Amino acid sequence: MLLAEYGTGNMTSILIFAGSARNGAFSKQLAAAATTIVAEAGTKPTLIDLADFETPLYNADLEDGSGIPQSVLDFRRLVASHHGLMIATPEYNGFVTPLILNMLCWASRPSPGDDFGSVFQTKPVALMAASPGRLGGVRVIPRLRDVFAELGMVPVPGFVTVPAAASAFTPRGRLADDTAETGLVALADRLLEASRPR
Ligand SMILES: Cc1cc2nc3c(=O)[nH]c(=O)nc-3n(C[C@H](O)[C@H](O)[C@H](O)COP(=O)(O)O)c2cc1C
Repeated sequence: MLLAEYGTGNMTSILIFAGSARNGAFSKQLAAAATTIVAEAGTKPTLIDLADFETPLYNADLEDGSGIPQSVLDFRRLVASHHGLMIATPEYNGFVTPLILNMLCWASRPSPGDDFGSVFQTKPVALMAASPGRLGGVRVIPRLRDVFAELGMVPVPGFVTVPAAASAFTPRGRLADDTAETGLVALADRLLEASRPR
């Protein structure tokens, strides 16, 4: 299910999602703030909620028995149909959340009869993290970068972290701190430049 989709035509399109399924997640708030900025840049963002792509824990027996779940195929089609990705995530024990890892494990599996097996290859991705704590989830950034690079994606330089996330957003869903907002705009600009169809 799409939470927000703007624009049509051949403009650059960016798929945005959070690494948490939690209602009201700070990372979802950051993903939504990024969606606003991408739309304001005249680009087409698609904000999805991974909670709408319910997927069993990866198990090769499941894959052998019933193939890749429809939720994963749907997610992979969305990746394929967008020029770039933007991820906002919490860190769990300094690491990538199981929600992201599970989806990427499934989505990396080749499936006979469709050509979406390499949807990640050369796709630019921008990395963001949020945490109620002081460090803003910064420890997950290099780990996330490794996972995406392993899939063949191209993380754009830099990242955004949002510490003290419980008080970081305005009622209108923007970052309250001007420097943080400027950093988010700069990250989005780098992603849009890398993602522009050539
Ligand atoms: C299993 C687990 C591990 C966590 N580890 C960290 C951590 O390493 N660093 C951190 O800043 N917060 C950590 N937290 C706290 C999360 O940042 C906090 O629950 C946050 O609200 C989750 O993100 P969300 O709001 O996007 O769902 C952890 C939470 C859980 C459930």
